[in-house]
Amino acid sequence: MKEKLKNLENEFKKDFSYASCVADIENLRIKYLGRKSILTQLFSEIPKLAPSEKGVFGKAINSLKQKISFAIDGMAKQLIEGQAQVDLTYPASIKTSGSVHVLSELNRRICDVFEKLGFAIVEGNEIEDEWHNFQALNIPLDHPSRDAFDTFYLNLPESSGGDYLLRSHTSPSQVRIMQKAKPPLAVVSPGRVYRPDEVDATHSFMFHQIEGFAVNTDITFAHLKGVLLEFAKAFFSGEAKLRFRPHFFPFTEPSAEVDVSCMICSGKSDPDKKCSVCKDKGWLEILGCGMIHPNVLKACGINPKKYKGFAFGMGLERIAMLKYGINDIRLFYENDIRFLKQFTF
Ligand code: PHE
Repeated sequence: MKEKLKNLENEFKKDFSYASCVADIENLRIKYLGRKSILTQLFSEIPKLAPSEKGVFGKAINSLKQKISFAIDGMAKQLIEGQAQVDLTYPASIKTSGSVHVLSELNRRICDVFEKLGFAIVEGNEIEDEWHNFQALNIPLDHPSRDAFDTFYLNLPESSGGDYLLRSHTSPSQVRIMQKAKPPLAVVSPGRVYRPDEVDATHSFMFHQIEGFAVNTDITFAHLKGVLLEFAKAFFSGEAKLRFRPHFFPFTEPSAEVDVSCMICSGKSDPDKKCSVCKDKGWLEILGCGMIHPNVLKACGINPKKYKGFAFGMGLERIAMLKYGINDIRLFYENDIRFLKQFTF
């Protein structure tokens, strides 16, 4: 009898381990607990046993029966609940995948163009000291152009060695790189900048710039024009033309603002419809540039009699707005999926 119980238990364990659906479990229930089951048969054998054994085996059979029903009920419950979750008619939950932000992607593409032209990519510091942000770039403390740039100061203790601020442009990267590395140099430096501007459709207290510069013994304005034209052709359109307008920046001399021919209407928009991007001007301003001022080279420990350089700086948001006809800078930062998903790269 003991032997029979042991075998039965082992057989059940084996069968149970193969059961994988509700029907399997129901078959087990019939086989082990049903009216014609081996257990029922064993119960019917109890009266034939010697009186001293009846109690012992009665208990043993009962305990096995409980074990088996417990296992079967538990498994049945699990399977039925599992089935309830898999309702094949239930609408699928839609998984949305993220994508690269339009500004990150354009930043990457712009840097790629310059990298192919031989420029290295070096990021600068978002927290700058006054010297790197202003004085080294030929912007003296009392220079009027500092007003537009005077920005978010960090009130750090005296011992930190002067005033620190969130940089108002990426040009301090030029200074940091020229202080460290010797010419020949050709570098682009992308990153965030901060300005004390009221936020509106075209201004933000934070935006992104990409700085570029090259220094060597024989650099001329022609190199600057050549590099920028290659960039415009690779990034905007093979047909792109550039226009240089004289301008003023304290850190470059001569300086210019650069316009690219409108990539939406190519300057020849339909006379009945105004071009919404260039407003029929045919040109779009994209960046500031010039020959690095000798005072800047000097401040960085580079001899301006021996070396010349060019530099340029462009606003990433502005370029993105022109490229895609976006009319409000705030859209870049609001994380509105309806806006962002138009640019899935
Ligand atoms: N730093 C200038 C700005 O923020 C852009 C610039 C960079 C102009 C390099 C000339 C040369 O407006």
